[in-house]
Amino acid sequence: TDQFGIQEALSKLGIKDINDGTSTGSNSFANGAIIESYSPVDGTLIAKVKASTKEDYQAAMAKAEEAFKTWRLVPAPKRGEIVRQMGDELRKNKEALGQLVSYEMGKSLQEGLGEVQEMIDICDFAVGLSRQLYGLTMHSERPMHRMYEQWHPFGVVGIISAFNFPVAVWSWNSMLAWVCGDVCIWKPSSKTPLCGIACQNIIRTVLERNNIPEGVSCLVVGNESGDLINNDKRIPLVSFTGSTRIGRHVSKTVAERFGNTILELGGNNAIIVSEHADINMVLVGAVFGAVGTAGQRCTSTRRLIIHESVYDKTVAVLKNAYSQLKIGNPLDSNNHVGPLIDKGAVNDYLNAIEKAKAEGGKIIVEGGVMQGEGYESGCYVKPCIIEAENHFHIVQEETFAPILYIMKYSTIEQAIELQNGVPQGLSSSIFTNNMREMELFLSHAGSDCGIANVNIGTSGAEIGGAFGGEKETGGGRESGSDAWKAYMRRQTNTINYGTQLPLAQGIKFDL
Ligand code: UN1
Repeated sequence: TDQFGIQEALSKLGIKDINDGTSTGSNSFANGAIIESYSPVDGTLIAKVKASTKEDYQAAMAKAEEAFKTWRLVPAPKRGEIVRQMGDELRKNKEALGQLVSYEMGKSLQEGLGEVQEMIDICDFAVGLSRQLYGLTMHSERPMHRMYEQWHPFGVVGIISAFNFPVAVWSWNSMLAWVCGDVCIWKPSSKTPLCGIACQNIIRTVLERNNIPEGVSCLVVGNESGDLINNDKRIPLVSFTGSTRIGRHVSKTVAERFGNTILELGGNNAIIVSEHADINMVLVGAVFGAVGTAGQRCTSTRRLIIHESVYDKTVAVLKNAYSQLKIGNPLDSNNHVGPLIDKGAVNDYLNAIEKAKAEGGKIIVEGGVMQGEGYESGCYVKPCIIEAENHFHIVQEETFAPILYIMKYSTIEQAIELQNGVPQGLSSSIFTNNMREMELFLSHAGSDCGIANVNIGTSGAEIGGAFGGEKETGGGRESGSDAWKAYMRRQTNTINYGTQLPLAQGIKFDL
């Protein structure tokens, strides 16, 4: 692999002592069992890191709570200035961090770099936001009274993120939380701990340079810390990204103690291909959506709902495109599709194909596990297409793999019903040049998803919009628009500057 300069990237990111067990940088809250991080790219052990013990977690939380006391007093635009510097530091490390993301997670280098770009973009967004944490003013019903609302920081925000966006999802949460005056404790996926350590190393230099306490950004590694966060009354907000199954557990656990959650769970995203679609545009949108990140985005395209009159043509175009896909080392820019995250994911992929067949699915493009030179990690699979019906159990589920289910429709209303006819509600799209169809799809009678696109695929959302979805996707919103409000507590203030004390609602209470 070193033809791709991974060792250099690792050392630039402060991940040293490869393979000797213990030290991997600035993670000071980790003295527990060893977690090994293998690359799905070539099966190599990249590094061993220590997990955080309960004691480590408590130490991190103590630092976080302490740091909150001073961080909340730093004026928001000054907090924004710290985030601006973090953005600059990420710019300097874009190449190295993109390489590590690609190598540890398996997405293409282009997508790894794109992920770091999302981090840089959210930093810029957060800097502007730091001067715009606006509240409203209201007119009081009482004379000489003033009402307004303000947004205060919550405290310690717990961030539990997934392997598929091992760095960007953390930054969407943390950069907003920081300008809002919160401090963060982050548990990255145990499948991509090095990405977490690298991010921590990058931003730590900014904190140190500005004399900001390190507790503003705490990192804990290993699954034990997840439930410590969920159960911790000192954490008013937990932002969780991951499967619906685990999200349900997080939601219950945090709700039990009246904590808040931002949940970003499974998607089951469909593209409607209308008879009025531009087929060349569908091709890029659908194929990138289905095979990009090897189908491991929450926003990956899982279903294509195709008008019967263009069905055969669309299938022919897709088959041709799939036959040209290059599967292999994601660091090599000639390849389109990299590996799945691990062999467990390969099994899930194989099982899903079997289940689809058992339910009556018809294979259009055959799947399978890649073998031979370059595929030694055992994690490379062929993107496949299956003609299926929407009600199949397996079609109703999210499988994190490059499996695309295709189906036919005859009326636009039917297409929308199919699109909405799954438990998840993250992303959706329609390809059409017909204004009536497009507007119907975006109307109250249209897509029920948090994201609905026209002539764009389901994946690859920009950071400026609120990101998240409905139903089993969990309802949370992250990133742009006014998603910041979830990271703050709202306080309504009424001030009486007169000499009388009139009661609201005209109540008389004479003493
Ligand atoms: C995810 O898969 O968890 O819209 C997030 C996209 C990316 C984010 C995906 N910007 O595909």
